[in-house]
Amino acid sequence: MKVTISVIKADIGGYPGHQTVHPDLIKTAEDMLAKAKKEGKVVDYHVTKCGDDLNLIITHTKGVDNKEIHSLAWDVFKAGTEVAKKLKLYGAGQDLLSDAFSGNVRGMGPGVAELEFEERPSEPVIVFMMDKTDPGAFNLPIYRMFADPFCTPGLVIDPSMQGGFNFEVYDTVEGRKITFKTPEEMYSMLAFVGSRSRYVIKRVYPGPGNKVSQKEAVACVSTEKLSQIAGQYVGKDDPVGIVRGQSGLPAVGEIVEPFAFPHLVAGWMRGSHQGPLMPCSVEQATPTRLDGPPRVVALGFQLANGRLVGPVDIFKDVAYDLARQKANEIAEYMRRHGPFEPHRLPEEDLEYTNLPKLQQKFKDRFSKI
Ligand code: F6R
Ligand code: MG
Ligand code: MG
Repeated sequence: MKVTISVIKADIGGYPGHQTVHPDLIKTAEDMLAKAKKEGKVVDYHVTKCGDDLNLIITHTKGVDNKEIHSLAWDVFKAGTEVAKKLKLYGAGQDLLSDAFSGNVRGMGPGVAELEFEERPSEPVIVFMMDKTDPGAFNLPIYRMFADPFCTPGLVIDPSMQGGFNFEVYDTVEGRKITFKTPEEMYSMLAFVGSRSRYVIKRVYPGPGNKVSQKEAVACVSTEKLSQIAGQYVGKDDPVGIVRGQSGLPAVGEIVEPFAFPHLVAGWMRGSHQGPLMPCSVEQATPTRLDGPPRVVALGFQLANGRLVGPVDIFKDVAYDLARQKANEIAEYMRRHGPFEPHRLPEEDLEYTNLPKLQQKFKDRFSKI
């Protein structure tokens, strides 16, 4: 059976401020998706949150970029926005950047990650959701899952993985894409994806000899950059990702291993700071300190003919206690830099914030040295 999993998210209002999602928004989404399931429009769904982002995890048989599914998600976000407005939640409807829905939520504010594939006899799927950061935050962990043998022993031990994986990389500045084959082109790929504010890993495909078809993406990340869509800072892009696992693909434990290291990502307060990515449970994903530090949640499912069996809230496990503690230590260390780089992002990454306006104000006060 060919199944599609669509993860579509938006910040349609937070409380207090940008901290979390109000239960009434979750309820609104659940009611609407339950109706869609009853009417046979979707196979299954799970509504959840990460920080101030409402996440819709939907399975269906309609393929990626499907108008019906995207319009369903859009309607849910619209209805949720009405609820958010009544409660005067902060930034009600902030990610719905346009009123004219054109059949696809891409480029309209919400973030989207979708995979369509032939469901295997057993199909483990991990859905990642991040808050207070941007799509480049996925570069390091996705690279490590699928290309770093020090993270994923399967690359060395499992014959199905010896052909490596192919990475589709987006250049978010020029609007172009490229595919790198690993392990052959690993160094060249790193030359690009190390610049995570510009180059983002969009999809991963199995290499030659893998049990899973080379034509089927096995990982996908949302790459929408709100600032580039709106032309100004409208909240961070808070990406989501989907990764399939096991039987020729990285095992679930290999997929979540990179997050034991809370690497520095861009985002945090005012989308203007570097901070550690803290792995945590859905309940713990309520950014507080300086609106952060940035969070990542991992929900694990098994698919059964499109049915979402789960979720398991993976980072709730004690094995991630140390990563959380480390993230707190790094947060403390970074915070001591106050307004100085590298805590604050470099100037070129702040072009969509209010900083250029301030620089403009002092433009005429400068004289030649
Ligand atoms: C970060 C984020 C928050 C806000 C901050 C200021 O992604 O959304 O850190 O940038 O709370 O928000 P405003 O300017 O709306 O008061
Ligand atoms: Mg918000
Ligand atoms: Mg958010």
